[in-house]
Amino acid sequence: MWKRIFPVLFSFGAVVICSVSCTSSKNFTEIHPVQDAHSYANTDSVVIRHLTLKLTVNFENRQLDGTATLHIENFNQARTLILDTKDLTIKKVTANGHTAKRSFKLMPARKVYLGQPLVIHLNPGDSLITITYHTAPEAGALQWLTPRQTAGKKHPFLFSQSQAILARTWVPCQDTPSIRFTYQAEIQTSPDLLALMSASNPTEKSPDGLYHFTMEQPIPSYLLALAVGDLEYRPFDARSGVYAEPEMIEKAAYEFTDTPRMMAAAEKLYGPYRWGRYDILVLPPSFPFGGMENPRLTFATPTVITGDRSLVSLIAHELAHSWSGNLVTNATWNDVWLNEGFTTYFELRIMEALYGREYAEMLEQIGYQDLKRVMGELGPDNPDTRLAIDVDDRNPDDGLSTIAYEKGRSFLKMLELAFGRPAFDDFLKKYFNTFAFHSMDTDHFTEYVREELVRHRRRVESRIHLREWIYEPGLPENCPVPDSPEFRKVDAQRAAFIHGRPAGELNVKGWTTHHWLHFLRALPKNLPRERLIDLDNTFTLSASPNSEIAFAWYQLVIPGHYKPALQHIRTFLLHVGRAKFVVPLYASLMKEKAYRAFARKVYEEARPGYHPVTYAAVDKLMSEKH
Ligand code: BES
Ligand code: ZN
Repeated sequence: MWKRIFPVLFSFGAVVICSVSCTSSKNFTEIHPVQDAHSYANTDSVVIRHLTLKLTVNFENRQLDGTATLHIENFNQARTLILDTKDLTIKKVTANGHTAKRSFKLMPARKVYLGQPLVIHLNPGDSLITITYHTAPEAGALQWLTPRQTAGKKHPFLFSQSQAILARTWVPCQDTPSIRFTYQAEIQTSPDLLALMSASNPTEKSPDGLYHFTMEQPIPSYLLALAVGDLEYRPFDARSGVYAEPEMIEKAAYEFTDTPRMMAAAEKLYGPYRWGRYDILVLPPSFPFGGMENPRLTFATPTVITGDRSLVSLIAHELAHSWSGNLVTNATWNDVWLNEGFTTYFELRIMEALYGREYAEMLEQIGYQDLKRVMGELGPDNPDTRLAIDVDDRNPDDGLSTIAYEKGRSFLKMLELAFGRPAFDDFLKKYFNTFAFHSMDTDHFTEYVREELVRHRRRVESRIHLREWIYEPGLPENCPVPDSPEFRKVDAQRAAFIHGRPAGELNVKGWTTHHWLHFLRALPKNLPRERLIDLDNTFTLSASPNSEIAFAWYQLVIPGHYKPALQHIRTFLLHVGRAKFVVPLYASLMKEKAYRAFARKVYEEARPGYHPVTYAAVDKLMSEKH
């Protein structure tokens, strides 16, 4: 497979970064790095094998300051090492532990979101390159929180979010998922704070504020992660536990208590957990995502802590990435469905194993509804509705949608139904084992399915529409349509409500978060105000402490111009920075002429508390024509 070829000009002469073709399809485990359109790195000649980071965390000027030493393998006698950087100040480059400075140059950015290539002159025999640098206060991966933005209000907090192409804003590296390296780090912070990474972690504060980390398994750069704050640890069992601020630790430990059972279920399905420990870090509410699968240490939003354990599928999801993503990694961001689609399928299998079919069916139904909605919004001919997306000329975040998650999951479910669960599980287990610690691209995966699954069962081949599923837009006609008997009960209550039954007379006994979500999401947007008042008074929805329920309610009442919810929406937007909630809420508000001034005012107040990922998305939305 040939990826794009693009030239980079620089002071040491003109080079062409060439792509590398993959080896024959028969030799699946020897896939060479493909050229990734989102990295300047010359990985066809030089690769990083190990990284040693030494950084000081400076909260006063919001900087990480120190050195990154790259242990490189130069297998093509390359005269340069090209690294990805964005907004880094490079102070010095040295080689092989010597003090003599090496020449380097930061080249112009090809696209703003890619940052600038750092081109370092190499001598034959160079194996260690040390870069002395510091980050910018506005580094895209980092959020520096003031004490006020934390639960404890006394200490500052720092966390990173490297996926997809933000690792380069805090570490100069080959920022591509097609290559992997091990790492060690030394992080200096103040003694009243604990530092954690996607590596072996301390469970207690160190008296000198100096922390050491090791990641023994090779990982791609987007899994580099760091968090620093007033954190405490609580174990679940010998290999898993949770970190949170002291104010949250009790609630977090209660909420995620099923983690060891999830690990056992995941291992039973697809083989041993390969990363040693599995811990969870609960971040402050400005964390821009639901969760991030940083190896050994999932980062999680506190908005899934509801007190009733009803949103723990998030943990199943991030844990599942320990196989789909962290073990077998999408080779480029065009292949992101190999990470997210597989993980969503796997997540539901874990949930089914722990909580039964009915529960998993509800989750499946909700995912399918999201898929249908997004497919409708994008249109069935939209190239972004393909599994094999093309984000080469865009920021990878712009092409990522529910499609990768839910069309990906539906595709795997279709294969499960076509070949039977036992055969499909054997296939997946073998896939994870065969390609463990390697990257995978869509073409090779397709070939692997043909070889391993289809070849021996030719009769099924014509029924599965493999090529259409992976390379064509829209939803193939054999897409499995989930059914949830639990949700049919909800449908009956919703219909009764729409036809006038008072909220107080609805049968909502035993309803879980998911029943409520299903009820709210399918209510018509033009309900008369009295009906909204009736629902709110009966079930206190505007002030719901459950973020998912509150969000679904707000999405209903914003178009309905139900004013009593506004103050709650304001509080929510000032407190929560999770992009999945925040971006659609601002979008809904901006759609209503009457709410635009309100939205702008709230955003002005809330923006300084959001992570760069979140405010970049809201900035874009606010600057669009309304
Ligand atoms: N790896 C993703 C988050 C991500 C994807 C960050 C792409 C940056 C670019 C993570 O595993 C994820 O999917 N999180 C979801 C949770 C979920 C249960 C679907 C989220 O944050 O909402
Ligand atoms: Zn995911």
